[in-house]
Amino acid sequence: MTLVPVIAIDGPTASGKGTVASLVAEQLGFHYLDSGALYRLVALASEKEGIDVKNGPELGVLAEKLSISFEKGQILLNGADVTEAIRSEAIGLRASTLATHPEVRRALVGLQHAFRKAPGLVADGRDMASVIFPDAIVKVFLTATAEARAERRYKQLIAKGISAKLEDLLRDLQERDARDSSRGTAPLLIAEGAQVLETSDLSVDQAVKTVLDWYRSKAA
Ligand code: DC
Repeated sequence: MTLVPVIAIDGPTASGKGTVASLVAEQLGFHYLDSGALYRLVALASEKEGIDVKNGPELGVLAEKLSISFEKGQILLNGADVTEAIRSEAIGLRASTLATHPEVRRALVGLQHAFRKAPGLVADGRDMASVIFPDAIVKVFLTATAEARAERRYKQLIAKGISAKLEDLLRDLQERDARDSSRGTAPLLIAEGAQVLETSDLSVDQAVKTVLDWYRSKAA
């Protein structure tokens, strides 16, 4: 039996990995997993239920029973469209905090594996290459300087008509980087065998092309 190929793309917040990963998936006709969205969904659901972000066991139980579906670019939580609601900075920070609990991470493993379907999967997150898909055919660590990432996020927010301060974004992003990288369970790291893609000075097209080239040379 040949295993369905996985391209794992990990990296810090606002590194552009979601944009690059979804375009790579589109070009190859592969499925796409935005694993960060799952942690964001737990963040939103637990906030609604009033669960303390420090309560790992209770958050784990909640994560196990979440009813989630991804349909035509929409993300549904218990039937409600939460595509936009999970993208706020506050939900991102909450997700980063609750993602430190092993109970939460364990509860989401099966869900992530279920995305691996023919003809292939592009998965983005923090631990795709190290924990969830260690047999990925291509492992990419996609990154950019904190300043470049804060500026990208700033432009995205302003384009959406949301007011933002560059220095606040930079501080939040550095705080999130520190937490995602220092946690005991599945920290953000450059996995063994991963290729680093520094995108501070690359266009989206250049980054996508690089990943496609790496995949094609491995798959050949
Ligand atoms: O990629 P993102 O910003 O949407 O992810 C939100 C948070 O979820 C991130 O700060 C850490 C957590 N996360 C994680 O711990 N592991 C993943 N594979 C993906 C996200």
